[in-house]
Amino acid sequence: MLDEAIISLSGVTKRYGSFVAVDDLDLTVRPGEFLSFLGPSGCGKTTTLRMIAGFIRPDEGRIMLAGRDVTHLPPNRRDLSFVFQNYALWPHMTVAENIGFGLKLKGVSRPDIDRRVAEVLAMTDLSGLEPRFPRELSGGQQQRVAVARALALGRSVLLMDEPLSNLDRKLRIDMRKELKELQGRLNVTTIYVTHDQEEALSMSDRVAVMDRGRIVCLAAPEDVYRHPPNQFAAEFVGNVNFFEGTVEDAGDGRARFRSADGLAFEVTRAQVPEDGPVRLMIRPEWIELRPAGTSGLNTHPMQVDFMEYVGASRRISARTDTGRDLLIQMHDIAPARARVGDRLCFYVAPQNLVAVK
Ligand SMILES: Nc1ncnc2c1ncn2[C@@H]1O[C@H](COP(=O)(O)OP(=O)(O)O)[C@@H](O)[C@H]1O
Ligand SMILES: [Mg+2]
Repeated sequence: MLDEAIISLSGVTKRYGSFVAVDDLDLTVRPGEFLSFLGPSGCGKTTTLRMIAGFIRPDEGRIMLAGRDVTHLPPNRRDLSFVFQNYALWPHMTVAENIGFGLKLKGVSRPDIDRRVAEVLAMTDLSGLEPRFPRELSGGQQQRVAVARALALGRSVLLMDEPLSNLDRKLRIDMRKELKELQGRLNVTTIYVTHDQEEALSMSDRVAVMDRGRIVCLAAPEDVYRHPPNQFAAEFVGNVNFFEGTVEDAGDGRARFRSADGLAFEVTRAQVPEDGPVRLMIRPEWIELRPAGTSGLNTHPMQVDFMEYVGASRRISARTDTGRDLLIQMHDIAPARARVGDRLCFYVAPQNLVAVK
């Protein structure tokens, strides 16, 4: 286990007075992995990242980097580099000087610095911009220079704190693809902080969802979305309907679920571990509409209360005949069958009812 970890945190805690910003955190990061900390503002993402970097000293716990205890080492003695949210480029230095500065501090010779700077400029698609000052660059280019500077030292771990949050939406989407490709090509272990669930899901090998100083879910993106272990993680990565109710065995590896308001569903046995009280979730886009009067498995009547067109999809707020609210999302290419006030049926496939704590 330990040889497999390039970074490991055990029992890492940070307090500010009586407030616990990071709470007894354990985490293992594998070599070459892209791992994201995802969570709302104030949940402890930056504090955790800065403790790994060495800018903040934990009150308790241990941080290991490549098998070495670095808990008490300063940042420059840890084999990692950091990309800050505001880029923190030196305004009085050119692009080339910004990127080469760390190497200069290390006493690397001029020709070697020039060679390395040219290399990372090519990697980050910045060739030709060497003589410019940061103020002469667009936001996207500044962001690339910050990444190039971090890569110049050839460290084995890259830490990034919301590096795309200052860019507009279109550029953010281009840059996340670019960053992900670069990371994969260089195989540099990366910890990436973001509050944007789409960014975390699209870029990461694993996502650590954080809440109040703790990791409440750590899994591959599809598992975080489809099988979140708890309500907090489920809600943080997307819209969701929760059904409280009871599960009972139906034999033949099948199970039955009855919601508190009286709807019966067949569910996949493996996704509802125990009989008894349970909370199931259904993502809005996992629900299908059927004509009024349709009967059959997992199909129940409802009425459309509200519809919202959001470009790629339509969001429908509905109410079941048992009186509960339901959020449904349909691709815009789906025939627009529903109108406000319509009585319809909804259908959920058994594998799309998933237990969460
Ligand atoms: N220097 C500090 N003094 C007091 N409280 C702090 C300090 N730094 C961070 N905090 C608090 O710790 C919590 C976690 O902060 P942070 O790690 O920056 O959150 P995130 O990056 O997830 O938004 C927040 O509630 C923040 O207000
Ligand atoms: Mg932060």
